[in-house]
Amino acid sequence: MSETPLIQIENLYKSYANKGESEQVLNDINFDIKKGETVAVLGQSGCGKSTLLNLIGGFETVDHGHIMLDGQEVTRPSRKSVMLFQDYGLLPWRSVIKNVELGLENINLSSNQRKERALKYLNLVGLDGKTDHFPRQLSGGMQQRVAIARALAIEPGLLLMDEPFGALDTFTRYYLQDELLKIQEKAQTTIVLVTHDIDEAIYLADRVMIMGADQGQIQREIIIDTYKPRDRSGDDFQYYRKLILNEFQLSGSTPQPEFTI
Ligand SMILES: Nc1ncnc2c1ncn2[C@@H]1O[C@H](COP(=O)(O)OP(=O)(O)OP(=O)(O)O)[C@@H](O)[C@H]1O
Ligand SMILES: [Mg+2]
Repeated sequence: MSETPLIQIENLYKSYANKGESEQVLNDINFDIKKGETVAVLGQSGCGKSTLLNLIGGFETVDHGHIMLDGQEVTRPSRKSVMLFQDYGLLPWRSVIKNVELGLENINLSSNQRKERALKYLNLVGLDGKTDHFPRQLSGGMQQRVAIARALAIEPGLLLMDEPFGALDTFTRYYLQDELLKIQEKAQTTIVLVTHDIDEAIYLADRVMIMGADQGQIQREIIIDTYKPRDRSGDDFQYYRKLILNEFQLSGSTPQPEFTI
């Protein structure tokens, strides 16, 4: 892992005007992310997670401060990063493989190379048998995997994921989390994962940034210092679970059902 940070976030402030009043959503955020690292941003609904991710992806502009990606200021979406939205964003009239090829159409590849690349990533997510299906012929989990394949096929240096497994049942979520770990290991992708699920953060991340409920700040950074894949029922996992849960209780927040251990 290189020591030069891929992302540098410095003195970041962001507010929105709501009903004529300014709402300070992010309030002096500072942290770096190394190449190849997986960082989870964990916090309750409305604390500013998506805002932070959208700023890193260049979909929103900062009020004050800087976000640097690979040494360059982020001012708009870049080919170096890919955002994986929660609603999959698949085109219903395109087959699975054509959906995956979609992200490759602006890249200088021949149609054969494009197809080969799409197949490689569909194979990686276990969907090489479904290439000619249409999204409506797939389960929700399969659709999510198509979206993951499409994002990875672009071979981004940086993958931004906004609650990507939030709507899935536990087993599909566990399966996809394992797939993501394998993909990340193979491709050495840097991942920023927004989630409100403590287990997901502990299972996937090298570092968890806990956002406070109202302050718009990173309340605490926790390094998850165990080997992957992690044992969800092991003592280490329980230790981190309690640590994070305590952090939420200390902040006076009411834990949501996902936070219950
Ligand atoms: N485009 C916008 N215009 C005005 N206010 C916004 C906008 N986007 C977000 N906000 C406000 O910023 C705050 C943080 O929103 P954000 O979407 O970042 O929260 P979140 O942590 O991602 O929540 P959730 O877990 O529910 O997705 C909220 O109070 C929201 O109303
Ligand atoms: Mg959000």
